Amino acid sequence: MKVFLLRNTLKLFLVFSILFGLSGFSIKIKEENPGKVYLFAYSTLKNNGKNGLHFAWSTDQKNWFAIGPEFSFLKSDFGSWGPTGKSMSEVFLIQDNSGIFHCFWSVRDNVFAHSESKDLVNWGRQNYIQGMKNFVGKEQDKSIILNVQVSKNEGQYLIHFSESGNNYSCATKDFKQYTSTIIDANASALKLRSEIQLQDEILQGTMHKVDWSLVENMIKNMESVKFRDKQNNTSPKSDSLLFLGLKPINVTIKINGQNSKKISNMLTGVFFEDINYAADGGLYGELIQNRDFEYTLHDRKGSDEKWNSSMAWSGDFKIENVNPIHANNPNYAVIKNGSISNSGFEGIALKANEKYDFSVFAKGTKAIVRLKTASGETLAEAEFTPSNTWKKFNLVLKSSKTVNDAHLEISTNGETAVDMVSLFPQKTFKNRKNGLRADLAETIADMHPKFVRFPGGCVAHGDGLHNIYKWKNTIGPLESRIGSRNIWGYHQSMGLGYFEYFQFCEDLGAEAVPVLAAGVPCQNSSDGGSGQQFGIPMEDMDEYVQDVLDLIEYANGSINTVWGKKRAEAGHPKPFNLKYIGIGNEDLISDVFEERYRMIVKAIQQKHPEIKIIGTVGPFFEGTDYREGWKIADDLKLPLVDEHYYQSPGWFINNHDFYDSYDRSKSKVYLGEYASWGNMFYNALAEALYLTGVERNGDVVSMASYAPLLAREKHTQWNPDLIYFNGNEVKPTVNYFVQKLYGQNPGDIYIERSVKASDNSDVNKRIGVSAVKESISGDLIVKLVNVLPVSVMPSIEIANLATTENTSYTVLSGNPEKTDARPITQNITLKEAISKELPPYSFTVIRIKTKK
Ligand code: AHR
Repeated sequence: MKVFLLRNTLKLFLVFSILFGLSGFSIKIKEENPGKVYLFAYSTLKNNGKNGLHFAWSTDQKNWFAIGPEFSFLKSDFGSWGPTGKSMSEVFLIQDNSGIFHCFWSVRDNVFAHSESKDLVNWGRQNYIQGMKNFVGKEQDKSIILNVQVSKNEGQYLIHFSESGNNYSCATKDFKQYTSTIIDANASALKLRSEIQLQDEILQGTMHKVDWSLVENMIKNMESVKFRDKQNNTSPKSDSLLFLGLKPINVTIKINGQNSKKISNMLTGVFFEDINYAADGGLYGELIQNRDFEYTLHDRKGSDEKWNSSMAWSGDFKIENVNPIHANNPNYAVIKNGSISNSGFEGIALKANEKYDFSVFAKGTKAIVRLKTASGETLAEAEFTPSNTWKKFNLVLKSSKTVNDAHLEISTNGETAVDMVSLFPQKTFKNRKNGLRADLAETIADMHPKFVRFPGGCVAHGDGLHNIYKWKNTIGPLESRIGSRNIWGYHQSMGLGYFEYFQFCEDLGAEAVPVLAAGVPCQNSSDGGSGQQFGIPMEDMDEYVQDVLDLIEYANGSINTVWGKKRAEAGHPKPFNLKYIGIGNEDLISDVFEERYRMIVKAIQQKHPEIKIIGTVGPFFEGTDYREGWKIADDLKLPLVDEHYYQSPGWFINNHDFYDSYDRSKSKVYLGEYASWGNMFYNALAEALYLTGVERNGDVVSMASYAPLLAREKHTQWNPDLIYFNGNEVKPTVNYFVQKLYGQNPGDIYIERSVKASDNSDVNKRIGVSAVKESISGDLIVKLVNVLPVSVMPSIEIANLATTENTSYTVLSGNPEKTDARPITQNITLKEAISKELPPYSFTVIRIKTKK
């Protein structure tokens, strides 16, 4: 064993010497395992300090070798994805008496952070400590970096930090509880950091003497991560090299109805978040932008001066707020001897001879509303005559033409105040009032989603404490709803609120899956000082927990309950029959998070054992939040957890077996957000291939939703998305067609299959096969994915399933670098279907009727 290790160690040295040209050095140390070495922990300011924790090692403290270099062993998760967030500076590593390493670092906002690790590879949860606020009672200063250093002192650790020339320290024994801070007169003299020279750079950090085996493990880990990243970096171009000279592949597939298992009957659904103008200017049917004059500079953090109460409006008006229509809706416009006009979301799209419901709250003198083209032609008009008090007017306008860039104009020869100026097509999805844009909703409905998750994503937990999504602000009369800044940098009117979400789910025949914040805002909040990572104060948590319980009552309570009554008043006396609730959204799993999360989960478990709680396990398929999130889920025995990952197509190809080894006795998985990075057919195929693995594991994965769903062109904060649109067109991506094929061809019984293809594992993992039975129709559905540049010749044997010749055969194939592949369906015989060539880069769905 020793000899083996030594040989490997020496091999590594050799690799280093080749990589870094350290031949003299390698010759010297090649002869022996160095035993103990020096390990230096540091961070740099490169990439705005976002590159995290680095290490270098040395045998003599003179010649240093970076591990990586620039490899991040730990990254800070504090702050937004923007330029200043996620930075790590002034790293300080200390080892406690039991050998555990503790890493402290400073972030902006007067905060320092802690995480611990046994091996410097796997790190525990990140906790953030508001140094100045908690311990000195000073308000946060967003720009301050505290410069943390740590020393040991009589069984405890002293955390020294400085701010504005003053030095402080606090003490801890367990790195969880910190004593209050004292002014530390000696701290300025403390120089606990060391300095090394690494190539041309002088670096500050902490030095430790450690066993070589620790470093060796770090190097191995770094190398395997790099290897994995390289392996996942595939594309149609790299495929043509990898599979150069490959001939068509013969595959024997055996499907035996005797070997089957029950799988989820709600595997595919949709993830709806108000990102990319998905709600206002998107699915929500309202055609007027800023109908209530409530846009504020704050929506965009003051970065856009046009973003104010007059946004999207022009004309002869002023904004007033005395005696408004509702306290939650303070602004309105007063038009004087002139007109006001709204341009919608880059123009209003109208269809000839279609009717539009116009409504307005108004007071003052008679006014005329017109729909007009950009050149001033009137397409429809009507009149309303207000009085001295606010009154709502409802009129119908019929457009005489189809145009995409109309505007709405209200004119008066006197003085008229207007608010909640609204225009909806009468043809909304299922003709609902305050309804959804029909073409978009129908495109979603065509996917046959079995569930709808809403309202996010990050929108659910919001940009800082004051931006946590509050469902109660989104119900009731539209003029009373409280709009809000959206974490994605625009305004949410809340016209599409919880009632509308529930109704949409019902109209789709899909389960509603609301996701609520776990008492903490988004870890990517830019609003650090207001409590990001610090959570709702514990004294306010009872109220927050009650809000969560009230939501269940709103959805399911009888009309005699407080919240059930409100649902009935909104027009839905029958319960919505809510079954699921998500708590948390890919949160940073910190102590602050856990305390609040457990409190909410326990309250739901006690009061509503019938509701299935979906827990959260971080934003990645691995790492600290994933591990820690799963640990808590196990402990709380949660029915489901919400996994998220956005990855390269190669990752999806190489991990098609991700769930094969999942423990069936633990929580089930809701794969709540996933996508491969792109809208090329290659991406869509990688997703199709991965979904064959998800279907195979449909006994452990209960639900999966591609994210994000919708994006209005020119207003995207996130790409890729599933369905793009503008004012009058819907543009589903090729990824959408994969989702649609899965949604329209679901199963609830998985039939075991064997696949015999090639001896080459790179080839084999690119052929996905899944066979399911849909109990309701009795159909057998076989999905075949070929992510190879050559065709696959299948020979499918089906046993113990009473198949008929009646088969529908759908193929989605095309150029993997393009986006225009579309499914083509034909009816053929089963005999033809089971041996029909699968084109290079294709996804095929065979639906076979069985004898009932
Ligand atoms: O889907 C877009 C975003 O990705 C979601 O808001 C968030 O949960 C994830 O990071």
